[in-house]
Amino acid sequence: MMSDCANCRSAGVNRREFLTTGSALAITAVLAACGDGIGGGATGPSNVSETVVLANYSALGAVGGIAVVSGAGTPIAVVRSATSQYRAYSLICPHQRTTVLINGTGFRCPNHGATFNASGAWTGGQRTSGLSEFTVALNTTAGTLTITS
Ligand code: FES
Repeated sequence: MMSDCANCRSAGVNRREFLTTGSALAITAVLAACGDGIGGGATGPSNVSETVVLANYSALGAVGGIAVVSGAGTPIAVVRSATSQYRAYSLICPHQRTTVLINGTGFRCPNHGATFNASGAWTGGQRTSGLSEFTVALNTTAGTLTITS
């Protein structure tokens, strides 16, 4: 059965096709708004610019060490991923924005239990996306790490 709508008739679209297509588009729009459709999406603050003195965080003295280096209200974790390599992640959970905590060699959200490895990738618990990673610049002379978004 063709639609009563003149535009639909001229396009050869019937009511059922219109409703089906419209519903699919609405669902797609909702999922896109959520990032990955499973909660969250981009969670990293966009105004981060922070320099930390690495010697102030004993946990970063060895490869695999993780330290919270939050400043200016932004929860950030630094991971020492190799002898002269560091990575920084937002500790804002991509699911519902709870602050994620260090848990062994990775992270765990205390709210619904999402877990993440030391590379920020989701590994279990509440399904969500990974932690947002910041850009880092190591100054070996000064012993500092500059973290920017
Ligand atoms: S807020 Fe982190 S798992 Fe839900």
